[in-house]
Amino acid sequence: MDNPFIFRVYQTKELFCDRQEELKTLITNTLSGADTTLIAQRRIGKTGLIYRLIDEIRFEKLPVLPIYVDIFATRSLEDFVKTLSTAIMNAIPEKSSIGKKFAKFIRSLRPLITYDPLTSTPQIQLTLQSEDEQKQTLTGLLTFLDNQDKKILLAIDEFQQVREYQEKNVEAMLRTIIQTLKNVTFLYCGSKRHMMLDIFGGERNPFYRSTAFVALQKLNRDVYAEFITKHFRDGGFDIDNDAVAYILDWTRGHTYFTQRLCHTVYDMAHGKVDVALVKQAAAQILQSDSVVFGQYQQLLTAGQWNFLIAIAKEGEASLITSRQFLRKYHLGNPSSVSRIVPSLVEKNLLDENIVDGKTTYSLNDVFLSRWLEEKY
Ligand SMILES: Nc1ncnc2c1ncn2[C@@H]1O[C@H](COP(=O)(O)OP(=O)(O)OP(=O)(O)O)[C@@H](O)[C@H]1O
Ligand SMILES: [Mg+2]
Repeated sequence: MDNPFIFRVYQTKELFCDRQEELKTLITNTLSGADTTLIAQRRIGKTGLIYRLIDEIRFEKLPVLPIYVDIFATRSLEDFVKTLSTAIMNAIPEKSSIGKKFAKFIRSLRPLITYDPLTSTPQIQLTLQSEDEQKQTLTGLLTFLDNQDKKILLAIDEFQQVREYQEKNVEAMLRTIIQTLKNVTFLYCGSKRHMMLDIFGGERNPFYRSTAFVALQKLNRDVYAEFITKHFRDGGFDIDNDAVAYILDWTRGHTYFTQRLCHTVYDMAHGKVDVALVKQAAAQILQSDSVVFGQYQQLLTAGQWNFLIAIAKEGEASLITSRQFLRKYHLGNPSSVSRIVPSLVEKNLLDENIVDGKTTYSLNDVFLSRWLEEKY
């Protein structure tokens, strides 16, 4: 049997744990036409949930056509337009009436169709010269979607990337176009949480409060424990409760890290799975990731590195500028820590969590956290 603990792209709902509640909200928003922003820390399962949603829309034959586009690799408005048209083309069945109309629309743009050398999926190359032409095409694409008799869900992943484009004010331009659409619902998501919060929650920004927010937390511990136990048992392994508890403690129940640890344990298992085996798998993961961790150190100042070690030792810390904390880890004065924190958040190494007005900090990478904790 294949390893059921995936830590790459979404496969099936059987291998996807829970998220029932959030899925329901997303479906409601999609059907009612409420744009939504999915907010969470890194690798908690945002992209997975979008795939899960699309899967559900198709399975339940809901009256919505879902389109997913990941704009991580785009660097300009031109890239954005190309990536979007390719995503649309690949999402709508060629022979359907929308598919035929879309092909006609694209033909009018005199495109080149190329094929991805690895996956053989078709890609659209458009020769759009000026920024105006690109803007017009984008408006044309979105208006095209808006004019179909079917509701459309356009999920844009890694949306914060629009801030990196060479053109200025792409955000404002997009907002202006999107505002006029009636039939297309948007789902925004991105791995840089602080940027996503600024785009959709920053008062001065074009998208300010234009969407509902869905915040993804860690999976419910009991539900995740049951999921883990079930998949080990289905694979013929006898896993005890202590081993499951140890997995969830060690990974702090963070999705990606839990999936990866379970994957490794599953690969190493013969018959029985106990705490000793889990510890062995954990050690193996840290060993193999240590190469990357060593490189992080090179990229950081001594102050930043020491601060990460301090947070790793605490697991989760709140009073980081208190005299007691600074003294315990020899971190100098509060002002230097106040400088270090935003730089580490910016690098996505440190996670800032605000719950009920209380801010806590933890390392984004649970394995790095465990490694630092052990090594220093
Ligand atoms: N509910 C779930 N059950 C099982 N596996 C999951 C679940 N959610 C996510 N995963 C898996 O965990 C890994 C990380 O999830 P995903 O890539 O969706 O996170 P993300 O929040 O989009 O990360 P990033 O912030 O890097 O974009 C993926 O391999 C995904 O398949
Ligand atoms: Mg993602």
